[in-house]
Amino acid sequence: EKGGYEHFMLKEIFEQPKAVHDTIHPRIKDNSIVIDELNMSEEDIKGIKKIFIIACGSAYHTGVTGKYVIEDLARIPVEVDLASEFRYRNPILEEGTMAIIISQSGETADSLAALREAQAQGIKVLGIVNVVGSSIAREADNVMYTWAGPEIAVATTKAYSTQLSALYILALHFASVRGKITDDELSTMIHELELLPKKIQSILDNKENIQKFATRFVAAKDIFFLGRGIDYATALEGSLKLKEISYIHSEAYAAGELKHGTISLIEEGTLVTAILTQEDLYKKMISNVVEVQTRGAYVLSITNEGNTECEKSTDLIFYIPNTDKHFTTSLAVIPLQLLSYYVSIGKGCDVDKPRNLAKSVTVE
Ligand code: M6R
Repeated sequence: EKGGYEHFMLKEIFEQPKAVHDTIHPRIKDNSIVIDELNMSEEDIKGIKKIFIIACGSAYHTGVTGKYVIEDLARIPVEVDLASEFRYRNPILEEGTMAIIISQSGETADSLAALREAQAQGIKVLGIVNVVGSSIAREADNVMYTWAGPEIAVATTKAYSTQLSALYILALHFASVRGKITDDELSTMIHELELLPKKIQSILDNKENIQKFATRFVAAKDIFFLGRGIDYATALEGSLKLKEISYIHSEAYAAGELKHGTISLIEEGTLVTAILTQEDLYKKMISNVVEVQTRGAYVLSITNEGNTECEKSTDLIFYIPNTDKHFTTSLAVIPLQLLSYYVSIGKGCDVDKPRNLAKSVTVE
């Protein structure tokens, strides 16, 4: 049932090109976005004043990427909330607010409670859900399914990737209905979306390179993940993936925050993974990488093909294919998933069923 793979996690990592294709493809028709199941008129979409994205764990991280993408493309203010925080903090949900609950299982207790809280305050909820017919799918006013198929490994990979895809689709749809992007821009971005599966595959074909780097990470006590903008959202996911299956302490930082505390933790040999996919932020990121290296850090950089500027100031480098700047999380996360996987098996951990964790968290 593992289809020849040693673990479900590896199998699911390799299923990502198909899962992403299956989530994107049915929603693209004649160079435009059509979300059949989305029960929102153009007027409804034009009337959105604010979006709350609410989720837990990795699903929350897709929401952080989603915030950058939706705000930049559709120009709608987005607040991202952890479900366990949202449900207890008496959130301000004014008219024109829309809630998006993201969940693979559709059964996460806090996410379900947050959905009910939003509805109780008269707010319509869109669920981005993987498990068909799950509680969140049934109770949401509207559902957009992610077509990842069953996910068995506790550490999410393909469901996470499809949640990102669903958010891109939604962002492009809102942006085009609200007149924030031209038809040409839309069709260029749709084209880039359609290329994502092939680009993910090309990274997977290169897995040996990441496997080599992983040997260097197995003995680490702490690992830091740095990024700015969308790369910060990717860093959050890279850090969670690593810690949950390898039991190595890791933290993600918005690189601009280094000077506000974190840099005091960097010493000779500290491992740092830097993510650099945003061209307008390359210079800032490179100077952060130099800052940590000067203090002894050993740095792995994940960056776009062609950003050779980065080579001078990093110990290891992994190139990902170029794509639209809004979609880079989908590519940069792949080497981070592989890194976590290889570090976990290198340490002899139970990669599919890490200690103390359950696949679906149905109690709070
Ligand atoms: O089923 P959900 O998407 O609602 O689950 C949310 C989190 O529990 C989940 O993403 C968790 O963080 C994973 N173990 C991460 O790999």
